[in-house]
Amino acid sequence: MEADFWHERWQNNLTGFHLAEVNPYLKAHWPALQLQPAARVFVPLSGKTLDLLWLAEQGHEVVGIELSPLAVEAFFAENQLPVERSQLGQLELWKSGRISLFCGDFFDLTAENLGDIDAVYDRASLVALPPAMRKKYAAKMTELAPLAPKLLVSLDYDQSKMDGPPFSVSEGEIQELYQAHYQITLLSAEDVLGNNEKFRKRGLNAMNECIYQLKNLG
Ligand SMILES: C[S@@+](CC[C@H](N)C(=O)[O-])C[C@H]1O[C@@H](n2cnc3c(N)ncnc32)[C@H](O)[C@@H]1O
Repeated sequence: MEADFWHERWQNNLTGFHLAEVNPYLKAHWPALQLQPAARVFVPLSGKTLDLLWLAEQGHEVVGIELSPLAVEAFFAENQLPVERSQLGQLELWKSGRISLFCGDFFDLTAENLGDIDAVYDRASLVALPPAMRKKYAAKMTELAPLAPKLLVSLDYDQSKMDGPPFSVSEGEIQELYQAHYQITLLSAEDVLGNNEKFRKRGLNAMNECIYQLKNLG
């Protein structure tokens, strides 16, 4: 989606994707990546997720990027974290302890600004983007963190019944986007429609939240 769409979402508090708790799938499946505590973890399209805090609590250096200044500001304010701000090209970097958040467009991030990344936690980024942007996104991700293993949280449902976002992203599409560099394993798939009445009202009769582990082919 275009930037204005997301800015309006944050301005109007239409952020149903935000969880008031750490994502249970992150806690359950992160150990599968077998990372060192000091690993540097990239969290693209992060919103103000509490997952950033949980990852930092594991000892990781955490680097996110989020388009909305409202979301970035809210993350540090709501979690009462003192913050230092600096400008890096088109992006503003907000930093507190082990957590750094770039404020700006993911597509403006450079590998040089991001630095070395050991792993990626990607929840609801692909589902936020229409199909053509998903291809661009995956290519950019490969450019930014070519070797990094990933935990990816996505949604799969009948796209003919509802428009996105959130878009449906099938396992086949994830294979197409990443199979050149990664072995892709579906770790879990759970129908979450029961917790999302608004999507049932929009015509869905199933919505699977799918967790994938992506291992670099080496
Ligand atoms: C579906 S939300 C997911 C947020 C977060 N991952 C979570 O689990 O709560 C997508 C987020 O991506 C942000 N976003 C969308 N396009 C972006 C872009 N091109 N660059 C950076 N952030 C973007 C939106 O503002 C929104 O906060």
